[in-house]
Amino acid sequence: MDYALKERIGKPELFTGRKAELTYFLKWIDDIKQEKSQSTAVLARRKMGKTALMERLFNITFFKNDGLIPFYYEVKENKMWVVDFCQDFFLTFIYQYIAFKSRNSEYLKPETRSDFGKAVEIAKQEGLAYLCGIIEDVAHAVVHEKIDTLWNIVRESPQTIAFRQKEFIVQMIDEFQFLNAMIYRDKNTKIPANDLAGGYLSTAESKIAPLLVSGSWVGWLMNELNSMLPARFKYEYLENMPEEEAVEMVYNYSRFFEVPVTEETAYLMSKISEGSPFYTSSIIRSRYKHKDLTTIKGLTDTLEFETLDNRGTIKSTWMEYVASAFPQINDRNAKNIVLHLCKNRDREVTREELLRDLNLDMSDAELEKKLKALVMADIIGQGASNFRYRGVSDNIFDKVFRGVYEEEIREFDVKVIREEYNAEFEKLKKQYYSLLGKYNYQKGYYIEYSILDQLKYRARKNNDLFKSITRYLPGDFEFCEYSRVWRYDSSPEYAKRFNVDIFARAQSPGDYSIIGEVKSRDLRKFSKDEVMEFERKFVEVKRLERIDRVVGFIFSRSGFTAEAEEYCREKGIACSDDAKWLG
Ligand SMILES: Nc1ncnc2c1ncn2[C@@H]1O[C@H](COP(=O)(O)OP(=O)(O)OP(=O)(O)O)[C@@H](O)[C@H]1O
Ligand SMILES: [Mg+2]
Repeated sequence: MDYALKERIGKPELFTGRKAELTYFLKWIDDIKQEKSQSTAVLARRKMGKTALMERLFNITFFKNDGLIPFYYEVKENKMWVVDFCQDFFLTFIYQYIAFKSRNSEYLKPETRSDFGKAVEIAKQEGLAYLCGIIEDVAHAVVHEKIDTLWNIVRESPQTIAFRQKEFIVQMIDEFQFLNAMIYRDKNTKIPANDLAGGYLSTAESKIAPLLVSGSWVGWLMNELNSMLPARFKYEYLENMPEEEAVEMVYNYSRFFEVPVTEETAYLMSKISEGSPFYTSSIIRSRYKHKDLTTIKGLTDTLEFETLDNRGTIKSTWMEYVASAFPQINDRNAKNIVLHLCKNRDREVTREELLRDLNLDMSDAELEKKLKALVMADIIGQGASNFRYRGVSDNIFDKVFRGVYEEEIREFDVKVIREEYNAEFEKLKKQYYSLLGKYNYQKGYYIEYSILDQLKYRARKNNDLFKSITRYLPGDFEFCEYSRVWRYDSSPEYAKRFNVDIFARAQSPGDYSIIGEVKSRDLRKFSKDEVMEFERKFVEVKRLERIDRVVGFIFSRSGFTAEAEEYCREKGIACSDDAKWLG
């Protein structure tokens, strides 16, 4: 697939998981063509991967080229004069539209987004002269500073073009909450516009160009949507990644950034991160000097650095957020309140309890207001009723916050935090070994990843050993350098969905690549039917990836049926059930 829009995540292959969400939203996008999709807000805590998801949706939709045009815009966190903003918004849309229609992704990064004449010229050149009228209209409103008409035309432009051309557009607007806060009616940015989002009251009802909005200030975003755009948006929540995706992400990042992990530490990391892509990436990419993620001690040290040291990405990100979230929190009471909720994370706390236990010298109404600000900034959560509150259920944020403020407010030794990590890891370690025990394994809970690591790091150097534990390899086969070793996922990007556990692409075309299947945690032997099923996927991947020299490989922990074994031998599909493959 071509990734037309440069994603912030970095190399496209870093994107991991989110399979359920991609499937859901790709269907939502596809349903626009039947006018069935309603404008939607993607809500999630900070750093949960909202932007990553939207950018990926843009790229998939752009690539599919299936009658649906994607538009992605991020409202910046800088003060802007409404005229400049409208121009930027509009020309971003126009260039993305032209890029899509002309299939030339260079237009996604136009030389200038301030020259309407240039846009007209390009539209004509690409055979899209029907865009000229609206471009000139907007240019006119810009020159004459007709602020209100301008925003109306610009905001409606995706819908207008979709309607006239009988097309469908998905409008993805990130950081939607800044629409009101960052845009000003005057050049000196003194008079806030305050009502730009409200304009979407009718626009958001469009079924031919519905919106998908998100933003990093979720409480704030929801407040805007509820108060200015009642019932215009459906809410979809982006949660932590499920365990298998979290583990996949650990291995994916570990391989990409060449930061080794063991199966045990991968398990612990995915658990302690609670499926947060941000925590996982921050731990693996941590700048901690003595980072060693192959031992529990090394992992604890790294995590401690990330939680307590100002140079840690996790701590600095959260503190930046907290600091810009509230001037309000800079009073002792607010910190105390958040700490009290952190400490009682397992239950909801009432305002009455806060007033009493913290000896707060304020009225209930004042406290309510303060708590509301904290909820809006997503530092605490609203409980089951308006009277109840809870700390956020995020164990790392909790420690960062306590590390900073508990020390400041009362005597507190941050060593406590290390002890807590130790205790958690101890508990998780037990879990991990009991999982292994359940299957009577010594090791190899995530064997597909162990095998990928073997191929990447060790197979070539130990060619003879690995060849000796693998049956039916071609006579001239050698393990080699692989340019990339990964779990292959044809994912929802393609019409057909399937995945294979191993795809190792040989660096030099003269060598054999490997497409493989791994079967574990199953006492049944690998059957002939399963081999045939694998063969079909093998052919498909071979075709999609355009490789000639490639062998199929099946690792089955519990072995093969006699029939399957015979079939593999005949067809030259390599087999193994040897535990040495697991390291
Ligand atoms: N699916 C994913 N696969 C791999 N990495 C991811 C994924 N989703 C997010 N990340 C990583 O997690 C971090 C946060 O992602 P992102 O910026 O998309 O989150 P966000 O929810 O938009 O954050 P914010 O609340 O700041 O807007 C980034 O470092 C990103 O690279
Ligand atoms: Mg974001």
